[in-house]
Amino acid sequence: MCGIVGYIGREQAAPILLEGLSRLEYRGYDSAGVAVFDAQAGALAVRKAKGRLQVLSDQLHGGADLDSTVGVGHTRWATHGAPSDINSHPQVSRSGKIAVVHNGIIENYAELKGFLQSKGVPFVSETDTEVVAQLIEYFYDGDLLAAVGRVLRRIQGAYALGILCADCPDQIVAVRKDSPLILGYGEGCNFITSDVTAILRHTRSVGYMEDGELAVLTREGIRCCNHLMQPIEKEIVTVDWEMDAAEKGGYEHFMFKEIMEQPEALRRCLSPRIREGEIVFEDFSLDQDYIKNMRRIYIVACGSSYHVGMVGKYHLERLTRIPVEVALGSEFRYMDPIVDDHTLVIVISQSGETLDTMAALREARRLGGHILSIVNVVGSSIARESDQVLYTWAGPEIAVATTKAYTTQLALLSLLALWLAKRLGTVPEEDFRSMLAAFQELPDKMEEVLSRREDIQYFASRYFNHDSIFFMGRNIDYALGLEGSLKLKEISYIHSEAYASGELKHGTISLIEDGTLVVALSTYSGLFAKAMSNVVEVKARGGSVLALTVEPRKAEMAQTADGVMTIPDIHNLLLPCLGVVPLQLFAYYVALMRGCDIDKPRNLAKSVTVE
Ligand code: G6P
Repeated sequence: MCGIVGYIGREQAAPILLEGLSRLEYRGYDSAGVAVFDAQAGALAVRKAKGRLQVLSDQLHGGADLDSTVGVGHTRWATHGAPSDINSHPQVSRSGKIAVVHNGIIENYAELKGFLQSKGVPFVSETDTEVVAQLIEYFYDGDLLAAVGRVLRRIQGAYALGILCADCPDQIVAVRKDSPLILGYGEGCNFITSDVTAILRHTRSVGYMEDGELAVLTREGIRCCNHLMQPIEKEIVTVDWEMDAAEKGGYEHFMFKEIMEQPEALRRCLSPRIREGEIVFEDFSLDQDYIKNMRRIYIVACGSSYHVGMVGKYHLERLTRIPVEVALGSEFRYMDPIVDDHTLVIVISQSGETLDTMAALREARRLGGHILSIVNVVGSSIARESDQVLYTWAGPEIAVATTKAYTTQLALLSLLALWLAKRLGTVPEEDFRSMLAAFQELPDKMEEVLSRREDIQYFASRYFNHDSIFFMGRNIDYALGLEGSLKLKEISYIHSEAYASGELKHGTISLIEDGTLVVALSTYSGLFAKAMSNVVEVKARGGSVLALTVEPRKAEMAQTADGVMTIPDIHNLLLPCLGVVPLQLFAYYVALMRGCDIDKPRNLAKSVTVE
């Protein structure tokens, strides 16, 4: 997804911008660019290149070619117009006086472009962003802020903007609406960024811009104002993420590092919340009356976070007996959802910035739902717009394919289900105790799974050259299969689908032929016999079966399946948390053996901030 970095200070800006942008590469992008104020020429210098950031960096000799102490940089993930040098940001106005970097989408850009064209303004790119640069220049009469203000009153959509003007070489103007933008406060220098990782090397003091706010950065300070251009005081907070946590730390890929970090992430997420035999959510509470009168729960999310919701539905309904609907963020607002003030809406998002999830959140709020979000990135938009937030505390996740965010989301949602059940009185005390004990065992058991990763590597070496792989399972194993299949396809590019095992006979079985690989998920003991019958059906049609089950069932499964991956037995509530790990490792090793770009799979983005 697009990334923004801006710097104003006393050092050379271009190397700082390029280094900052390199921290954002993990977000997924297809081109990059920088604009700086060149004091000698008295004009803006703009350089852009399609492809990896390295291409741009090589062209600029690491930034040494640009002599300037103020500038903005951008990594672009194409929305309007294909990836190309011209369509990359910064976009500039016709005279070259105004340069703009932009994350988001200007929804009424076509209308504004038509207006400007009718006034004779020529356009060079296909982007919506160029409209912003051209419009600022159109309104500019020597007062940059006034011109920006006039533009903001006309543009619709989502935007985080970094603006440079050749006439104002000692400032950067920043604006935010529905797309994240963060201010960084340094010593004699200041920053803007869409992601705090990009500026952590320089400062840990940041301010989160709110929707409608505008900021003017100079070397000496940052002035902020609201949408009415009235001055406001921005709260400065200290980011305590370690830089190391955002680096690969010796592993070949961020994804592998993050898989291995899961036990630790779970400890961070769970231990402060389980104390003396009780679940303690210090960061959140729900009124007992509200809980008793809750009629429905909606879970809203996208991608892997949606798969967490799919598992969560089984747990929540089983434990609380309250009906649970799971909806894709992208579908929710178009499906006329039944939400009222007796509906708890659980919004799940690693980044806290997924636009469809955010739009669903707003729709749910409009309908009267109570919004509880499960989010990883502290201070993100979804976190800030929710009534309540439970943070997963998984630390920064860099690889596009989520791993530790998925497991912590799942563990936290499961803990929430148990907490609600306790408050509702729908879980016997003895069951509550055994489930709580399982949460405490989870990190150690996950370490055990990780320590046997060579087994999974072996299975990957057996099957990595398959063109198509199916996943099947029932109940929580079906929900787990959805994530296993997504993990595999997103990083290895192998065609893969997940099915509820019972649906096999309703279509999928026609795809099974000699050698077709089916990953049969059977961690849930209650349905082991049913899972075995489906394994037999696949085998009878010549398919190969790689099974996943709990250790006590291994021998039985091995009699029929071609290969068996195992996890230690644990309470049903936490089986998917453990079960996903072999599937993550399987996807990882398969992708490695196929030579794929694991941390940055083609066409994918870490954080999808467009509809
Ligand atoms: C992208 C990521 C997925 C993620 C999904 C939802 O597609 O590649 O890993 O599950 O967005 O993101 P969120 O940040 O809302 O969890």
